[in-house]
Amino acid sequence: MSANLKYLSLGILVFQTTSLVLTMRYSRTLKEEGPRYLSSTAVVVAEILKIMACVLLVYKDSQCSLRALNRVLRDEILNKPMETMKLAVPSGIYTLQNNLLYVALSNLDAATYQVTYQLKILTTALFSVSMLSKKLGVYQWLSLVILMTGVAFVQWPSDAQEPDAKALSAGSQFVGLMAVLTACFSSGFAGVYFEKILKETKQSVWIRNIQLGFFGSVFGLMGVYVYDGELVSQNGFFQGYNRLTWAVVALQALGGLVIAAVIKYADNILKGFATSLSIILSTLISYFWLQDFVPTR
Ligand code: C5P
Repeated sequence: MSANLKYLSLGILVFQTTSLVLTMRYSRTLKEEGPRYLSSTAVVVAEILKIMACVLLVYKDSQCSLRALNRVLRDEILNKPMETMKLAVPSGIYTLQNNLLYVALSNLDAATYQVTYQLKILTTALFSVSMLSKKLGVYQWLSLVILMTGVAFVQWPSDAQEPDAKALSAGSQFVGLMAVLTACFSSGFAGVYFEKILKETKQSVWIRNIQLGFFGSVFGLMGVYVYDGELVSQNGFFQGYNRLTWAVVALQALGGLVIAAVIKYADNILKGFATSLSIILSTLISYFWLQDFVPTR
């Protein structure tokens, strides 16, 4: 049963990561009338959707009784402030990371972003070894090194690029790259920290996700205020939202659920390998189908 859940959750993760990166990239590059949606608000909406889904799952686990749901939420979240506070750390880091990924995808193409972001496999392994005392075999370290070499190749500037286009995009590529690299560290640390909390304490994974989402929404709202406060007061919180935006937000919320399940039933290192499978998928799809909206570099 638990082995099934492990592979099922890993499989859904491959699907979710591939669709999220393609939809997000598409939504950030599509030229439309009116203002573009604010990524800072999308991060908050995704957190709120995630909390709603987790509350439903806890409700289901409490035999669909509202009274039992109320008791679990009160006993496990409100009455255990210290346990709840533990989640403020990964949550703050994830909020920063979720915003960084929008910066990255506004400046890099989907495939480059995906491959570079796989460096997080290495950072995750390092944090797993240091924080969870995991042992990695020679082959596991070797595969990490092979992956890193692949990443270096992808970053190599191609001769096929126009010199003008290269000069124009250098700044933007640099910003994108810095954003992804920072996200690699935050991803490794926050993922392993969340795994430590999940595996070393008794609370259910959905309760932990509600706690994470609560802080995520608070930090995310602070981000909206700081970065886009003025725009929100002019054009509203949901400016530029269309069906595609809602798809991105729903996929991101789904990601939170699947990732929590993967961390519980498998671990962060396996999660990294599953998501790198999605590189192959997103590269193939963006090459064959999405060429027409990948902007010139
Ligand atoms: O790239 P990485 O695997 O680190 O991304 C993790 C993503 O999953 C982040 O967007 C984070 O907000 C989300 N997450 C979540 N709930 C968890 C763990 C991660 O929403 N329990």
